Amino acid sequence: MSESTGSEGRRFPAPEQLAASANVGPDVYAEAEADRLAFWATQARRLTWAQEWDEVLDWTNPPFAKWFVGGKLNVAYNCLDRHVEAGHGDQVAYHWEGEPGDTRTLTYAQLTEDVCRAANALLELGIQAGDRVAIYMPMIPETIVAMLACARIGAVHMVVFGGFSADALASRITDAGAVLVITSDGGYRRGAPSALKPAVDDALSRTEGVRNVLVVKRTEQDVEWTEGRDLWWHDVVDRQSPQHTPEAFDAEHPLYIMYTSGTTAKPKGILHTSGGYLTQVAYSHWATFDLEPDTDVYWTAADVGWVTGHSYIVYGPLANRATSVMYEGTPETPHRGRWFELIEKYRVSILYTAPTVIRTFMKWGEDIPAGFDLSSLRVLGSVGEPINPEAWLWYHRNIGGERCPIVDTWWQTETGAHMITPLPGVTSLKPGSAQTPFPGIAAKVVDDEGNELGDDATGLLVLTAPWPAMLRTIWGDDDRYVDTYWSRFGREVYFAGDGAKKDADGDIWLLGRVDDVMNVSGHRISTTEVESSLVAHPAVAEAAVVGASDPTTGQGIVAFVILRGSATDSGDDLVQQLRTHVSKDIGPIAKPRQIMVVQELPKTRSGKIMRRLLRDVAENREMGDVTTLTDSSVMNLIKDKLPASS
Ligand code: WTA
Repeated sequence: MSESTGSEGRRFPAPEQLAASANVGPDVYAEAEADRLAFWATQARRLTWAQEWDEVLDWTNPPFAKWFVGGKLNVAYNCLDRHVEAGHGDQVAYHWEGEPGDTRTLTYAQLTEDVCRAANALLELGIQAGDRVAIYMPMIPETIVAMLACARIGAVHMVVFGGFSADALASRITDAGAVLVITSDGGYRRGAPSALKPAVDDALSRTEGVRNVLVVKRTEQDVEWTEGRDLWWHDVVDRQSPQHTPEAFDAEHPLYIMYTSGTTAKPKGILHTSGGYLTQVAYSHWATFDLEPDTDVYWTAADVGWVTGHSYIVYGPLANRATSVMYEGTPETPHRGRWFELIEKYRVSILYTAPTVIRTFMKWGEDIPAGFDLSSLRVLGSVGEPINPEAWLWYHRNIGGERCPIVDTWWQTETGAHMITPLPGVTSLKPGSAQTPFPGIAAKVVDDEGNELGDDATGLLVLTAPWPAMLRTIWGDDDRYVDTYWSRFGREVYFAGDGAKKDADGDIWLLGRVDDVMNVSGHRISTTEVESSLVAHPAVAEAAVVGASDPTTGQGIVAFVILRGSATDSGDDLVQQLRTHVSKDIGPIAKPRQIMVVQELPKTRSGKIMRRLLRDVAENREMGDVTTLTDSSVMNLIKDKLPASS
């Protein structure tokens, strides 16, 4: 990666002015190191607590952590009311922009009232603290209102990305035991209304326990209606009182569940709780982006349906009283300069996005950003996958005007908040490396036995101390929580599932997943999940799926399938059918880039599919070691099936 750029060794020191005035200076690392718990306690005081904690961390039963034990707070109060009480009610919380160009401006005072109305509506619908509420929405303000209304009354939200299928929604509703679904008729994507309500209807025909569906009107599309179950948001929410007294909940009260792909077909419900989570997202948002709430305009260009949206569109920015931009649609609608137009229009000063988007912009060409005034930008961020140095340098030059530091933030749904990242006023940046564990975070690169590695040796990334925003468990499955993350190197070491190396300067480079999880456009998709979907198709007997490197999306999904004897068609039509099948089954993000029909799959003597070899084929590489194969001629058979060009 870095070898090909000629940029090896280039450093980008923090801009002088920023270094002099940044929220966080170089001493922060030593301060955190000296007393990690005291450091986090200091950060927790950024929040308003109804009752202070007795103990910062209870780690007597690892890996089940309790942070800020005995403390009580209301998360929504911390994100809203307290700013209004401090006289900032007129400050804009969100400049929202719909894809068709309609706009809404929400101040902290308005958002607080909207959330109170929604909280009162949820109470009227019988939702109680601890109940799970599914949210399946486009990128509209009501999505955030719904999340905060849940937080306000202690209900646990479970947001499902609007691009997921009815099936995916149904299994998540069932696993979480949701009693209410909040959705909308649809949202705008790529210039057209895209329906959501039909997927909810479909999902609910296969699940039990959901009493009501609350539907926001966005696109005015026709919707099917189940009387007694379905309710319009505007009928139920608008007539409520804009006042609601927040109740303080325990620091460890569950805040949300977010499902993410694991190495089996069943997604994991990652559980986050209140006090520690809000502490770390608020502090990291302030420190990593050098947020100045009175002057910055902050934009996380991601979907609220992912953890990036939860932590850095909703909770972090609101806890810090940021003014944010929120955009409903896609970057190329109605033209490829849409994002830059928004940066110019709202004078965005901090932009946070994913490498896959940067690479797409690179493909479209630098003339597009050059046509807009991007001089308001001062800090840029990257998240979701390793950013290759070429993309980093392009981002730095063509969007950041060579003046904005880029913070390459490594973290996960499970970690809740930034874990390895440069700090914009401190770190001398190295394109392609996430560099430094965040203050108060302990990370190492180790070999298979857990011995620490350095000097560019490739190993596994582990986190060696608990952190406030850590997941608390996998919903309903403590054993899987322990097995997946805390058993490889003992119960006190978190195994992240990412390969990494540490260079001679001590900077950490992330090298991608080491498990069977693909990263497509910054989204985690499990190979097993796509395989199960393929074998559920009547024409498929067996399937193996790999993530092959892709110049734009990071990885692309390549599937090898063996057809059933009864399948009559093995041509392009069937391949298209299978791609559509997976897209419908899981969601468009899981649609394989390529499907190859093969006679056999390479397996070890113990019957395990050798994905490594398939990845070699998919990436047109010389094949690696085939000695453990039962029958090494299988690979020749597969290679013979490839299109002539490869
Ligand atoms: C990858 C997204 C390298 C990594 C916040 C991780 C990254 C997975 C980076 C988590 C980065 C995320 N550099 N790799 N800056 N950020 N990843 O749960 O493989 O959707 O394990 O959380 O994305 O993805 P998730």
